[in-house]
Parts: sequence; structure tokens; C-alpha cells
Amino acid sequence: MGIITSPRLAAMPHYEPGLTTADVLRRYGLDAAVKLASNESPFPPLPQVEAAIREAIGGLNRYPDGAGRALRAAIADLHGVDTSQVVLGNGSCDIILLAGQALLDPGTTLVHPEPSFSLYPHLPAAAGAEAVAVPVDELGRNDLDAMAAAVDERTRLVILCNPNNPTGGYMAAGAIERFLDQIPEDVPVLLDEAYHDFVTELDRGRGISMARSRPNLMVLRTFSKAHGLCGLRIGYGVGGETWIRAIEAVRQPFNTNTLAQVAALEGLRNLAETERRVQETIRERERVSAALTGMGVAFTPSQANFILVSPDGDRATDGTGVHERLLARGVIVRDGAALGCAGRLRVSIGTPHENDTFLAAIAGVLAGDENTAIPAVHAAGQEGPTPQ
Ligand SMILES: Cc1ncc(COP(=O)(O)O)c(C=O)c1O
Repeated sequence: MGIITSPRLAAMPHYEPGLTTADVLRRYGLDAAVKLASNESPFPPLPQVEAAIREAIGGLNRYPDGAGRALRAAIADLHGVDTSQVVLGNGSCDIILLAGQALLDPGTTLVHPEPSFSLYPHLPAAAGAEAVAVPVDELGRNDLDAMAAAVDERTRLVILCNPNNPTGGYMAAGAIERFLDQIPEDVPVLLDEAYHDFVTELDRGRGISMARSRPNLMVLRTFSKAHGLCGLRIGYGVGGETWIRAIEAVRQPFNTNTLAQVAALEGLRNLAETERRVQETIRERERVSAALTGMGVAFTPSQANFILVSPDGDRATDGTGVHERLLARGVIVRDGAALGCAGRLRVSIGTPHENDTFLAAIAGVLAGDENTAIPAVHAAGQEGPTPQ
């Protein structure tokens, strides 16, 4: 006989983990594959970060600094806010989940974009609250007018995602400001900027400025993407006093580990090198976009480190078929069907070689060429299932 579990579990969205490199090599009998499925950085951690991690290992018999003082001070410095306005999370996912715990109750609602980050619907499901999913607009941006219209007296949290995952669409700061003006000042808003570093629009960064003056806004950033530290799990929120108190009230005392704190701090001390890498990713994003255009393959213009591709266009293929055929060639991208956009593929931007491998493979698939596995640089990885 099994144990008795909460009826809320039945409402939890089913999560379909992405395929690992090892899965694909085994399934298709390949020697190599490229993984462009989880919006990870193609670059390993900086040597300085690796050295700082090694040095900290000797102290792991002690608990971490539960308040993350040094890292919070560095983040506060970076953004020109007080340390008391910064909260750390075990990845920004941690803070998203904590926001749900702190703010949602049965009878209340979370307003969020759709399709968007797959974690958002978990919050109301876990709290016994209700999700109000608002479709993104034709450019893959959060539809702010529709979201404002969805906010009512039951709304206890609004999540905005900018750039939006999985579409890559970017909302201008002015539009977000107008949205914030439209909704009541006591409705908490979480602005998830996980992909902020890859934005080239000139108004980037205004989210944090808004959080300085608007107590109902918390902005989320992460070290998982540009800093390439997703395996260590560290992210943060910048927000007003009530927001910070709410998250602090529900977080576990040691929610971020020593190595993650040390690595993130060292990352902030070496921003120039990370910025160089980010610029390379942006150049590659533009190159891949131009190549897709050249092939006549439709996609949503992206301000993130991934592109949502519509391999169908006006062709008679279907996205899922293309996904399978790319896998058979050793190119792992994310099937849109698992992300709420069936028929599309979310393709992360990797190294020039990985991107070329993807471009050659999709050109071959769309041309109906024989299934030929393309030699790739990466052998079987040890990584586990990855997020959406
Ligand atoms: C929009 C968005 N927010 C948050 C996250 C979570 O990042 P972290 O690794 O900081 O938990 C992701 C991860 O892919 C994401 O796409």
C-alpha cells in the first residue's frame, strides 16, 4: 500500500525532462552529439572561478554563510542598491518557488505568460491556488495589456519573463513601466530576467532601476546562463523590503551553498571576460538567425541565448518529426511540444562549431537528405535531465 499524499499533487504539471547527451548517443548508436537544448553556456567556468571553487573546498566541513553576506554585498554594489534589497537563491528557480510559497493561497491567482518558463504553473498547483495563463503576443513577448486585464482582486502574484523563454521575445522597459502603472501597487510582480545578459536593446537593465523605486517589483537574475554556473545553482532577486522579507521568511537558512557563493563572487570580480563570452554568443545568435533566414526557415527574433525555430514554415513537415530527425543526426534541441509550442524547436546558441552542426543538420533534414550523423566535438556527457 502506498503512502497518502496531498491531493495537490494531482494538479502539479507533468514535467518532461530533456534528453541527455548519453540518452541520445545510446538511442541512436552515435559516437558524438551536440547539446543545444537547455540554454546553457557553451563555455566552462572561468579559470579564476574554478580556482576560487578549489580553494573553498577545504572549508566544506562548515555550513555556508546563510546570509551570503559577501556575495549580496557585491551584487548590491553592482546594482547600486542596499544589501538589504538582495536575496539569494539556489538558482533563481529557488526564489520563484519561494515566491509561490510566500504569496499564494487557495482562492488566489498567479498571472503568468504562456508559453513561458515551465516552472511558473507549479507555484499555484503547489499552493492550491489558480493559474491564469496569458498567451504571449505574435513576437513572443508577454502580452502586457492582456496580463494587466487578467489582474483582479484575487491576484497575489504576477510573473513577467523578459526575454521570454522559450520564445526569446523582449519587452521594452517603457512597456513594463506602463504595465506596473496599470496594476494595483500592492500586487507583487516578479520580473524574471534570467536571459538579461544577452539583450542588446539599449533599455536593458531598467528593470533593476524600476525595482529601486517600486516596492511591489522584484527582479530575478541568475549566474546559470552568462556566467555558466548552472551546475552550481545560484541566482538572486533585487526588490523592496516587503518582497525580501517574504522570501526570507520561507527560505531554508542555508539555501545557497559555499561553492556557489564563492564562484558567483569570483564571477562578479571578472565581469570583463564573461562579457566577452556573452558578446560571442550574441554574434553567434545573429549568425544563426541570418543563416536560418537564408534557408527560408522561420523563427522568432530572439534577445536571449536561444532561438525558437518553426521548421515547418510553409513546408509540409511537422516540428516533432524534424526534432526526431535532428536527434538521429546527433543534434539535441528542445522539442517545442514539451514547451507549449508544438511544431517548433528551441535551439540554444552554442559554440560556432555546435551552431554549424545544427545548421548543417537542419538544412539536411529539411532537404530530405539521408540520415547522416554529423561528427561532433562532444563525447557522451554525464549530465542529468535538464530544465525547460
Ligand atoms: C526564464 C527562466 N527563469 C529562470 C530559470 C532558472 O534558472 P536557474 O538556473 O537560476 O534556477 C530559467 C532556466 O532555464 C529560465 O529559463
